[in-house]
Amino acid sequence: MEYEEIMERLRNVVSTDVHPIPEDALEKEKKRFYETHKKSLALFEDAKNVIPGGVEHNLSTTNPFPLAMDRTKGYKMWDIDGNEYIDYLLCGAPIILGHYFDPLDDEVIKIIQEKGPSTGLTSEYEVLAAKEIIKHVPSVEMVRFLQTGTESAMAAIRIARAYTEKMKVIKVSGSYHGWSDQMVYSLHLPGTGPLESKGIPVEFFGHLIDVMPNDFDALEKAFEDSKDQGGVAAIILEPVGGESGVHPVHPDWNRRCRELCDAYESLLIFDEVVTGFRLDMGGAQKYFNIMPDLTTFGKIIAHGYPAAGAVAGRKDIMEICDAGLAREPYLGGTLAANPIMCGACYHAIRLMEEHDAVKKATDYANQLTDALNNLFATREDLPFFVYNYGPIMHYVTTAFFSVDLQGPDPLNQIMTRKDLGEEYQMVATNQGLNSLAGTRMYSCMQHDRAALDRTLEVWEYLMSLIPKN
Ligand SMILES: Cc1ncc(COP(=O)(O)O)c(C=O)c1O
Repeated sequence: MEYEEIMERLRNVVSTDVHPIPEDALEKEKKRFYETHKKSLALFEDAKNVIPGGVEHNLSTTNPFPLAMDRTKGYKMWDIDGNEYIDYLLCGAPIILGHYFDPLDDEVIKIIQEKGPSTGLTSEYEVLAAKEIIKHVPSVEMVRFLQTGTESAMAAIRIARAYTEKMKVIKVSGSYHGWSDQMVYSLHLPGTGPLESKGIPVEFFGHLIDVMPNDFDALEKAFEDSKDQGGVAAIILEPVGGESGVHPVHPDWNRRCRELCDAYESLLIFDEVVTGFRLDMGGAQKYFNIMPDLTTFGKIIAHGYPAAGAVAGRKDIMEICDAGLAREPYLGGTLAANPIMCGACYHAIRLMEEHDAVKKATDYANQLTDALNNLFATREDLPFFVYNYGPIMHYVTTAFFSVDLQGPDPLNQIMTRKDLGEEYQMVATNQGLNSLAGTRMYSCMQHDRAALDRTLEVWEYLMSLIPKN
């Protein structure tokens, strides 16, 4: 689906009434959830005594309570009550070969058994893993491994400031680049500023410029206005749009960012924590054919094995961050580049290429997107739709992420739409579908016809609970 159509449909969803599940049907679903997830509930009650709120995974559903998982295989996942799920969360994107993929796990187990977890010193896997990334990602000439996507964004920004000797950083509103002090600003919904920034001094955002997505004039103004205030060191962005495309990217946006970075001698940072090795083996930069100066990677480079992250990019830039005394800028991490992560990285990327994982996951996502849109079209009263960037699918039902903050009663709109989205998700969970935030589905190379058919059945069931207008 093209950008203009996505935007028009999104506007349509947020400007029309929501479609609730009637109270009696909802009560039945809730009762069913409690009855079939007893062990998860017991664990949650226990966890509340030792873990704040009883849950520490931001991607976990909490309505009515979080589920505890037991095991996985391929695209399937089982919770501790033995319920089976088709998994579209896939650990928040990194699992593209499929869960618990023997050829990868066997290699990692061998490293653990034969070599031990880490030494704090260099191993051969570090070089093999860096070469594997460089082989596929066109703008990358050097790699520095870190431990998370959050750290990778922190590092990229620090490197950009050190390299350009400029201070300002532009962030596209609504994007997620991890939870470091300077990046927790306008998360999830564009324009929300410090709403979720409790615990972070407001001064920390002094050099951050929050630009609304696809606002070309504001983008240019941010570069121009910064000239007398230390200049723009970098713009950091998710190349498919904020929240992995929840806020879709205008077809000209990445190119314009590149042009402005060139014109103002600033660096372009692509956050490819989700898009790298998922949208394309060469990441979003290859998919859109726009080359950033720096790229950040996270969980996907080790296919879910900890601790995975990397900042990578042009040689002349990356060379300023070698380890050692009196180097600048300072980067660290005792467990960064440990042999388990680097071994997993090397073998995971090798196996993704060998199995054509991105293409298979993309083919599935294209088919599921079409099939769901056909199904949704059978109910003209429902504005539901799905769009995808390769194996990243967004399904829109209540569109709480797209509520206009300047519109009437935005907070109430957001909460009503979010709550209803969670109710839909509870029904889907009862039926054995696991997705991200009730809005997103990632596919892996093992999703198959059976998964597709079952997914459609679940949606058909969900829609049957919503009365026709
Ligand atoms: C686009 C993007 N950047 C950065 C991060 C942060 O990565 P991590 O959770 O490994 O810190 C995430 C996490 O989901 C992400 O989606």
